[in-house]
Amino acid sequence: MNELLIQKVKSVVDKDIPLISNLSNVTAILNEMKDINWCGFYIVKNDVLYLGPFQGEVACVVIQKGRGVCGTSLLRKETIVVPDVNKFDGHIACSSKSKSEIVTPIIKDNEVVAIIDIDSPTLNRFNKDDQNTLEEIAKILSEIF
Ligand code: SME
Repeated sequence: MNELLIQKVKSVVDKDIPLISNLSNVTAILNEMKDINWCGFYIVKNDVLYLGPFQGEVACVVIQKGRGVCGTSLLRKETIVVPDVNKFDGHIACSSKSKSEIVTPIIKDNEVVAIIDIDSPTLNRFNKDDQNTLEEIAKILSEIF
């Protein structure tokens, strides 16, 4: 796991400040990951994903449950690693630069409250170690929802 990234997330997260402030700073930390072109959050409201704080190009604002990689992660309540976005049925292309992607749900009381989404311009960018790191970060963030 990327312990440094996890420590940095812990160091900025504060239960006493607004959620959007916390998530905004976390995007800055996630953006330190090598070889990525987009990172950010989608927040769940009434079973639909809405764009939250992010770094990168303008992105799709609303994603229905079960649609794209993000909506599939919301539906399955699990991390989805996509080595090649062109081979993921229903992938939602926000940027033509994105070639691979990882999406991890933030789960609170057994419900997905948000997802973390990271895109890379390189095929097969994300591995099990990235998954473990993001799942640990998701666990930390579940405390502030
Ligand atoms: N590719 C995502 C959409 C969000 S963007 O990558 C920022 C998806 O298929 O759900």
